Order: sequence, then C-alpha cells, then structure tokens
Amino acid sequence: MSLTEKQRSVIHDTWKSMQQSRKAWNDLLISLFAKHTEYQKLFKGFANVPLDQLRDNKRLTTQMAAVVAVISACIECLHDENALIDMLKGLALRHYHRNVTIQMFENMGVVFISWLVDTLGSQTMDEEAIAAWGLFYTTFVSIIKRYYEEFDNKNANNI
Ligand code: HEM
Repeated sequence: MSLTEKQRSVIHDTWKSMQQSRKAWNDLLISLFAKHTEYQKLFKGFANVPLDQLRDNKRLTTQMAAVVAVISACIECLHDENALIDMLKGLALRHYHRNVTIQMFENMGVVFISWLVDTLGSQTMDEEAIAAWGLFYTTFVSIIKRYYEEFDNKNANNI
C-alpha cells in the first residue's frame, strides 16, 4: 500500500475517534441502505426493518461492531500489506458466498468517507484525511477484488 507515514498516522488518529463514537457506528449501514435500498435485503437479521427503526436495532449494532473490528484489524496491518492481504481472505470469501459484489464494496466506499466526515467533522476529516482514507479504502477493495477473481477462476475450473 502506498500510504505515507503521515497518511498512516492520520488514519490511525481518525479511526481512534471513530472507535470512540459508538453511537455513530450504525449510521454507516443506515446511510448505505438509504442510498442503495436493495442492499438491505442481503442482511437477513434486519432486511425488513424500516430505516427509521434501525438506529437502535441490536442486530445492526452487532453487525457494525464486527465491521468496525475488521477495519481496526486492517489499520493495525497498515505497515504490512502482506498481513492485510492474508487477513482479508476470509472476509472476501464470506462476502463472495453472500453475493456481495465488488460494485457494492465500491459504492460503500463513498458512503464510508461521508460517514467519517459526518461523524468527525470537516476539521478533522480535512482534505488530507479524506485522501488518506480514499487510498486506504481503494487498497482494501483491490485486495478483495483480487480474491474474488481467484474464486471466480476456481469456480470456472470446476465446471
Ligand atoms: C468496509 C467494508 C465491509 C466490512 C469491513 C464488512 C465486514 C463484515 C463482517 C465482519 C461481517 C460478519 C462476519 C463475516 O461474515 O465475515 C459481515 C457480514 C456481512 N456483510 Fe459485510 N463488510 C463490508 C462490506 C459489505 C458490503 C458492501 C455488503 C453488501 C452491501 C456487505 C454485506 C454483508 C452481509 C450480507 C453479511 C452477512 C450478514 C448476516 O449475518 O446476515 N458487507 N461483513
């Protein structure tokens, strides 16, 4: 990953604030579903819960704790791309089997950055921080994409 030391430290610091902003965690998926209604159907635990009732939904809270834990683990690996690649294999596989597409991951990136800006404010999430997170997220998705291609090839060879 071509993040500079400064970018890594910006990501570390901003993410620390996000980890402490538990109340805002559920907003990520709520914003994603508001923009891409059909994505909510993939989440069996709360597929049919109206958006305005999702904020305090326990299953969504559990889901978002898992998402935050994965991002936290990724951030611990920022200095070591191989560790990041190894870590994301399981995540890629589980999403691949749930018909989550790369396009969905990419669309989540836009919502993800807005979620950081809305939660932390534009003074913390300034241009530099947005650029660092953009690069982080692009790398994250590119690793998942490589695994998806590998899984596609394996499936094609099994036919
Ligand atoms: C930042 C990107 C994402 C992260 C870190 C993430 C993380 C996770 C984690 C940790 C789990 C639970 C454990 C597991 O199965 O691995 C999970 C489950 C799931 N994720 Fe993601 N995810 C991301 C993006 C997405 C996107 C874009 C979608 C689709 C729109 C999606 C759909 C799902 C679904 C359907 C489940 C299963 C939920 C259930 O238990 O019913 N994820 N995700």
